[in-house]
Amino acid sequence: MSDEVLVGILGKGTVGAAFKELLEQRAGMVEEVAGARPKVSGVLSRKRGDFDELLAASDVIVELIGGTDPAREYVIRALREGRHVVTANKQLVAQHGDELVAAAKEGGAQLRFEAAVAGAIPVIRVVQESLGAIPIEKVFGIVNGTTNYILTEMSRAGLSYEQALEQAQDFGYAEADPTDDVGGADAAAKMAILARLAFGAPVALDDVSYEGIEQISPDDLAYAKELGLSLKLLGVAERVGDRQVSVRVFPCFLYPGHPLAPIEGPFNAVMVEAPTITEITMSGPGAGGPETASAVLGDVVSVIGGGSPLFEENSKLTIAKDTESAFYLHLEVEDRPGVLAKITEILGEAEVSVRSVVQRGMGDDARLVMVMHEVSERRFQSALKKIAKLRFLRSPPRSIRVIEEEFV
Ligand code: HSE
Repeated sequence: MSDEVLVGILGKGTVGAAFKELLEQRAGMVEEVAGARPKVSGVLSRKRGDFDELLAASDVIVELIGGTDPAREYVIRALREGRHVVTANKQLVAQHGDELVAAAKEGGAQLRFEAAVAGAIPVIRVVQESLGAIPIEKVFGIVNGTTNYILTEMSRAGLSYEQALEQAQDFGYAEADPTDDVGGADAAAKMAILARLAFGAPVALDDVSYEGIEQISPDDLAYAKELGLSLKLLGVAERVGDRQVSVRVFPCFLYPGHPLAPIEGPFNAVMVEAPTITEITMSGPGAGGPETASAVLGDVVSVIGGGSPLFEENSKLTIAKDTESAFYLHLEVEDRPGVLAKITEILGEAEVSVRSVVQRGMGDDARLVMVMHEVSERRFQSALKKIAKLRFLRSPPRSIRVIEEEFV
């Protein structure tokens, strides 16, 4: 590369605008660190600009346009034509990682995507480069800022779900369409990327089972508050036995003392567990224009400076069909003899062991809050289906996973 590196930016949204500003402010510093001065060659938005012209005028393409269409085509073309690409697009990397890596190899170009997972936290770098030779057992954490902000504000300030979501959108934390945030698809894409890097296994987005926070009710948050628990949307990627991995996203109660319990607002945190390191926790801003732009700039510095991070997939791990979790179960039932017995009978038949039960009277009805010991998710779900059909139930059962693991 010459002493000037021409950077073409795709996208003029929250992150695109913040990145352009940051790049211009920091050009001198980047030159000192990486040995060449970056200069914006042009900015293309969904509506304006010509990609061919921008590509011809750029050494590096920074893709911040979001979505997979036309981002996929642009990024593949850029890589094939030997332009390094930096992207913050988790759906693109999670859904089309193989194609992107093939295009990068073909063009001898680098592909970097630090900003695609956990915003400003350098988690990709740590998992891929620093821990490269360490067999990671588990990567998990809070990887969506919007949902963490919503859960925090509903619990802390008593905001409604709608009010909290609106604020998250105003602050620029949410995706253009926040359905992916609240439904768990955004976190699922990030976990697919982390799992591929951590385990060297080809985890596709379809392999990730996910739930979001749309079903969380103020009752669940009140329960958490009463018992001093935190409610978080967690992404978990872990080895199951010697041959399998499981990758999931789900809302979950955490006991106090868990390193993820105090992570609030739009902050993300990712924990990595491996035998030699016990565990590492990284936390920081997970969403927002300037925060994400800073991770993008870090990648631009890396591509200017050299290096070639790609997915290296050599393990034979497959996706596990079942895993174990502890659950909380919230039931509203008619208060009459035999009700509790029937519920525990169904749980017992499915070999689900109850750890605690609290019953509160509500006139002729009662609220039952039960916490289960760790159990096969499949067995618990089959018991839940049977419980949902019981005639004395006043509303559909609600269950949320619980993590009781203590960290000292
Ligand atoms: N919408 C994402 C979030 C932005 O809320 O975490 C960062 O990927």
